[in-house]
Amino acid sequence: MSGGGARDAILALARRLAREAGALQRERYEEHHEIDTKSAAVDLVTEVDRACEALVVAAIEKERPGDAILAEEGGGQDRPGAEWRWVIDPLDGTTNYAHSYPRFCVSIGVERAGRSEVGVVYDPLLDELYHAVRGAGAFRNDRPISVTEEPELSRALLATGFAYDRRASEIDNLDHFGDFLKSSRALRRDGSAALDLCYVACGRLDGYWELKLQPWDVAAGSLIVEEAGGRVSDFAGRALAGSAVQILASNGHIHEAMREVLRRSG
Ligand code: IPD
Ligand code: CA
Ligand code: CA
Repeated sequence: MSGGGARDAILALARRLAREAGALQRERYEEHHEIDTKSAAVDLVTEVDRACEALVVAAIEKERPGDAILAEEGGGQDRPGAEWRWVIDPLDGTTNYAHSYPRFCVSIGVERAGRSEVGVVYDPLLDELYHAVRGAGAFRNDRPISVTEEPELSRALLATGFAYDRRASEIDNLDHFGDFLKSSRALRRDGSAALDLCYVACGRLDGYWELKLQPWDVAAGSLIVEEAGGRVSDFAGRALAGSAVQILASNGHIHEAMREVLRRSG
């Protein structure tokens, strides 16, 4: 199959799996959950994270057995030399999910030779499916989306998040949080990095930054922001190159002003 044909098939599969995993999240949303912890007491995983990952990984293994899979809960297959790699966050917003706070999603990014080609994020409660294909734009429920035109940081609505090592680490984002609180119109911390990125892409937010994220948090959302006309970089303005130790995503117009604030408190 040609690269374009393969991409279309991958997009269709990613969309189907995001909807299937999302349906599972929606069905079990208000049930009692089994909650375990991972890297820290505040880093949670539920049986629904695991069930969503199992569903998505099993389907990819069946339909595309040669592809590599990086999945947050460890169910993926590292296949060195594979042309395509799936990067999956089966449930982004686990803390919200565990508390029945209605903001979480499924995030599926697909890379070819290390470069993002397809991104799909599905919010099952709002029934909003975001997708992007490199060079072909970004969409919510199949309608084109774009970032805001806002040029002034002082009028911008921003979002961020805090890493799971925040009780132990001094690099806790509170310095940046304080500076942006003073320099923007308002801040949000809503607990799903993938949705934060999609909200920048569709203009509900003007900018977003965070530290110490993992590839699965940003694989789909970063492409969706770029394809919606926004900019994604590290705090120094460089391309992310796989890691997400620092991420700054914006409408492009306020990117340098946000970098300046991050420099000040960094
Ligand atoms: C988390 C969420 C949260 C962000 C954390 C992430 P998870 O992912 O995206 O918004 O602040 O840093 O780890 O654990 O819910 O998949
Ligand atoms: Ca995540
Ligand atoms: Ca997750």
